[in-house]
Amino acid sequence: MRRSPVWSPEQYGTYADERARPFRDLVERVRATDVRTVVDLGCGPGALTASLRDVWPEATIRGIDSSPQMLEAAAPYADEHLSFELGDVREWTGADLDVIVTNATLQWVPDQVELLPGFVRALRPGGWLAIQIPGNGDAPSHAILRELAGTPPYAEYAKDASLRPDVPGPAEFVDVLSAEGCVVDAWETTYFHVLSGDNAVLEWVKGTGARPVLQSLPDELRKQFEAEYGARLAEAYPQKDYGTLLPFRRIFAVAQKAG
Ligand SMILES: C[S@@+](CC[C@H](N)C(=O)[O-])C[C@H]1O[C@@H](n2cnc3c(N)ncnc32)[C@H](O)[C@@H]1O
Repeated sequence: MRRSPVWSPEQYGTYADERARPFRDLVERVRATDVRTVVDLGCGPGALTASLRDVWPEATIRGIDSSPQMLEAAAPYADEHLSFELGDVREWTGADLDVIVTNATLQWVPDQVELLPGFVRALRPGGWLAIQIPGNGDAPSHAILRELAGTPPYAEYAKDASLRPDVPGPAEFVDVLSAEGCVVDAWETTYFHVLSGDNAVLEWVKGTGARPVLQSLPDELRKQFEAEYGARLAEAYPQKDYGTLLPFRRIFAVAQKAG
C-alpha cells in the first residue's frame, strides 16, 4: 500500500512566489464571467485559493484537500465567501459549478485522467476546468531521487513511498477533455526559476516531490539521505553568483464545457 505524504505547509511555503506563478498563469486563461461558485481541488495551504477572491469577487469559493496539516494552514483565510474542507479528489463530486481549479495536485493521483469526466460533469454548461501539473518527472531532481531511493540502505524503507506516477501531457488532456464536450486550451511551459539560498533545490523538493521518500526513512537514514541527495542535487544544479537555476516543466489544461 502506497503511503501519502504528510505535508508541511512551512516547508511548502519555501519559494512561495515561484510556486504561485503557474497558478496565476493558469487562472489568467479562465475567461469565465458571472462566476458564482468555484472549487479548488487540492487547495493546499490556502493562500492561492484565497487569491481567487480578487479574480471572482462575487463567488463562493471552496477549497478541498486531503491533508489536515494543509487545511490547518488554510483556515485563517476562511471568511463568509471562502471555506475549506477535508476531502479526497478521487471521491469528490460536485454539481453546477462555474469554475474548478486544481493546481499542482493531480500529479499525486494515479490514473488522474479517469477523474476528468467527473470534473466536467460537476460543471454547469459553459463552466470552466483549469488544471496544472508538474511535468518534471524526468528532471535530474526526480531521476536522482528515484535512483537513490532504490539503492541500499534506503530501498528497503523507501520501497512503499509514493513516487509520483507518470503524468499526462497536453495532448492527452486535449483528447480526453474534448471527448467530454469541452473546448480545450492546453500547453506546457518550462519556468527557469532562479532560487536564492543554499541547497536551494533540496529545500524546494523537500516541500513536495521528495516528501514521501524522506518520510519513509528512519531519522538517522533520513539525515544521511538528505546529505547524499543534497550533494547530488548541488552537482546537477550548481549554485552561481546569481542563485541556483531550476528549470521546471509544467503542463496546463483549461477547458470550457459546452454551453
Ligand atoms: C503541491 S500541493 C499544491 C497545493 C495548492 N494547490 C498550490 O498550488 O499551492 C499538493 C496538494 O494536493 C493535496 N492532495 C494530494 N493528493 C490529494 C487527494 N487525493 N485529494 C485531495 N488533495 C490531495 C495535498 O494534500 C497538497 O495540499
